[in-house]
Amino acid sequence: MSDLPATEIRTTAPEIGTTEWVMDRCDDLTRHSSRPDALERVYLSPEHSAGNTAVQAWMRDAGLDTETDAAGNIWGRRAADGTPQRPATRGEPALVLGSHLDTVPDAGRYDGMLGVVLAIAVAHRLRDTPLPFALEVVGFSAEEGTRFGKALLGSCATSGQWDPAWWETADADGVTLREAFVRFGLVPERVGDAARDPADLVGYLEAHIEQGPVLEARDLPLGYVTTIAGARRFVLTVTGEARHAGGTPFSRRKDALVAAAHLVTRIEELAKATDSLATVGDIRVQPGAVNVIPGRAELTLDLRGRTDAGRDELWEQIAAAGRDIAQERGVTFEFAETHRAPSTACADRMKAAVATGVAEATGTSPDDVLGLWSPAGHDGMAMDAVTDVGMLFLRCRDGISHHPDEHVEPEDVGAALDAYTAAVLELARVHVPAPLVALRQAQDPPVETPGEKAR
Ligand code: GLV
Ligand code: MN
Ligand code: MN
Repeated sequence: MSDLPATEIRTTAPEIGTTEWVMDRCDDLTRHSSRPDALERVYLSPEHSAGNTAVQAWMRDAGLDTETDAAGNIWGRRAADGTPQRPATRGEPALVLGSHLDTVPDAGRYDGMLGVVLAIAVAHRLRDTPLPFALEVVGFSAEEGTRFGKALLGSCATSGQWDPAWWETADADGVTLREAFVRFGLVPERVGDAARDPADLVGYLEAHIEQGPVLEARDLPLGYVTTIAGARRFVLTVTGEARHAGGTPFSRRKDALVAAAHLVTRIEELAKATDSLATVGDIRVQPGAVNVIPGRAELTLDLRGRTDAGRDELWEQIAAAGRDIAQERGVTFEFAETHRAPSTACADRMKAAVATGVAEATGTSPDDVLGLWSPAGHDGMAMDAVTDVGMLFLRCRDGISHHPDEHVEPEDVGAALDAYTAAVLELARVHVPAPLVALRQAQDPPVETPGEKAR
């Protein structure tokens, strides 16, 4: 699937840091897939390792020293003066650019990967430019969370939020996270080594396709993110009774799948009446035979809300509906929460820098740059625990994502490259070294503004 149409085959490789180079690298990464007919690259898989190796080489070409951390994230770094430097070096705090390299099943080629490749291209463009901070690029390893049901694993390790309760979580084949770590060559006991000290970070700035229709509808190539939606994920289990499909009259059935189906439609009704989103993305039925009434159905539930309170209120309604349907249909309803991340406000200085970058790249005023909230999750949700977060959004065709038809126009990628580079330079321009920040805070303690967390 990575083959270019014949008309686009080039005889010379595009120069690093150009739009063509970015587009080609996103194509290249599709080679590292567990499926021959589609793109899927999950945490701690052979493809994860191969993808990291490819990205590591591009980081080196861009003038970065590289390292895989204790959770399988790939990092590159240069010092403030532009010299390649070992990632996570204590010393000059670093501005981190990046995104994720893992994918959903049958994925598009831009969700995550585009942000990593753009970050490398920006680092290359700035390789001879002294900055007042070190620059790091990260390819996070497990943002989607499809393998173990827990999203943001890589960035949770970076932000020191790894929960030991996750170790025994198993994938669909029964392989636990601990076993997968060891098979990948990582040491579970060392995962804490991946955690970064907030004092060593200046901020985290990610570029990502919007994964929604807002920029396209407004005919805008780029925007900045105001807030990333709060998310929760659950496994819902409906247990009935597996019995003979011929011999069991309807009056005697406890069909787990029919009860689950009622719950799925009720979940959609409930969510539509709010401004939150709810999705049942997977159902597994046991015993799963054509002539057996389903005895057990397991459903995944993904919830997102513009506010955590709205999302939680919707969950309470869904849980009540599950209990009611179970009672009506003589089955039981249970749930387990597999993921929870609070909504994350992007920091004022990061929003302002991205708006300035977009304005420069598109010839508008920063005040006219669109700020939009992200219903999709991002590694910034975890990174917010250790540093200020900002995001640049790129228009994507028809808002399609988590699908092979994901598409960005090269012109928009070119504009994003300019905007991302300009945003880094703007952060450099307004950068205040940490000792001065501490002095100012001591004189003038920060005031918490609505919608933004005080740090
Ligand atoms: C990641 O793409 C998510 O929003 O689930
Ligand atoms: Mn995604
Ligand atoms: Mn993503």
